[in-house]
Amino acid sequence: MTGNEKSSLLELARTASAGAYAPYSGFKVGAAVVDAQGRVHVGCNVENASYGLTSCAERNALAAAMASGVRDLTAILIYVPGQRLFQPCGACRQVMVELMPASASVYSLCDEDENRWTVADLLPQPFVFRAD
Ligand code: THU
Repeated sequence: MTGNEKSSLLELARTASAGAYAPYSGFKVGAAVVDAQGRVHVGCNVENASYGLTSCAERNALAAAMASGVRDLTAILIYVPGQRLFQPCGACRQVMVELMPASASVYSLCDEDENRWTVADLLPQPFVFRAD
């Protein structure tokens, strides 16, 4: 992805982060996924008083992409304000494996730093369902 493409994904993830509903943790995550045609879908984390019902930004962005019929996702960028990078949780990694190619890029950015992995880097030995 070009620097310009990454900057525009970051801008969208930053806006999504500002909309995050995180009254319990205060950890406001934004995510933006992009497909091969450059279409972008965003998500933010949405917390709940019953903590286990919280949904992560990554999974919400991926769900939005699915709802639009998008299938050929190429990258996801996640953003949190502040100085510390974070890494996607295990549940989100398994969902990335389901919906993105193993070679798709996962960018994590904060205000000071950034990191990049592939989906396969993050979950090298995923659960895969086989009915036989
Ligand atoms: N969170 C995400 O949105 N993505 C992750 O990959 C890890 C955690 C959210 C869930 C919760 O609202 C807050 O961050 C603290 O765990």
